[in-house]
Amino acid sequence: MFFQQRPGIDATLSYLFGCAGQRKAVAVDVVAGDEDWFVSAARDAGADIVHVIDTHVHADHYSGGRALAQRVGAPYHLHESNLGRTHFAFSPLHDGQRLEAGNVLVDVLHTPGHTPDSICLVVRDLRRADEPWFVLTGDTLFVGAVGRPDLAGQEREMAAQLHASLHERLLKLAPELEIYPGHQAGSVCGAGLSGKPASTIGFERRFNPLLSLPRGAFVDALTAVVPARPAELARIVETNLGGPASQSLAPHGRQV
Ligand SMILES: [Fe+2]
Repeated sequence: MFFQQRPGIDATLSYLFGCAGQRKAVAVDVVAGDEDWFVSAARDAGADIVHVIDTHVHADHYSGGRALAQRVGAPYHLHESNLGRTHFAFSPLHDGQRLEAGNVLVDVLHTPGHTPDSICLVVRDLRRADEPWFVLTGDTLFVGAVGRPDLAGQEREMAAQLHASLHERLLKLAPELEIYPGHQAGSVCGAGLSGKPASTIGFERRFNPLLSLPRGAFVDALTAVVPARPAELARIVETNLGGPASQSLAPHGRQV
């Protein structure tokens, strides 16, 4: 398989990976303005982008996912909880759903907490093994930190959901699985992120300070110190949902 992690604005991390043999690629958490990079990186890999996925509706940056999907003729995927919320049609994902890109398989885990629609993507390469190899954790689990639970309001309830998603879903995965998060240090989507952009389930289980806390202490810790909210949060979310604010954007998603 091929795999690329792309650092972007606002400490984002995007991903392009897929099956070189069958020339199929998956793009995840594309930032607006990066569409050209994804098109040319897929071309360099000799692959067509067959799936474009956002791990959640982002509140800190403009998504380029929908624009990229339209450009390459691929489905744009979001979690199904966004049905009725967006001003555009998308391909809804449900927990347990599997997407295929040649020998690369992507399984959807619904992991609410950072946002109600957050998903993680468990990836396997059948050329290497039948077992998963890595998981894209979006803004659910970071290296050394976890996603902030307050962006959609109800932060204590969301923090409790995040605790359940982490312990009942993600940390049940094999310890050797690599994790690739949606942000690195410097993001407003979490506090205390490492500058290292990858880790493993096992290392985070042992050394991520938030993962050893019982639920009550975890909720207290996450809601005690809340990072500054992203500037223009409401406008960014509305734009990423295709609402009226998206009409006043320049082609690369920047406000005009
Ligand atoms: Fe986020």
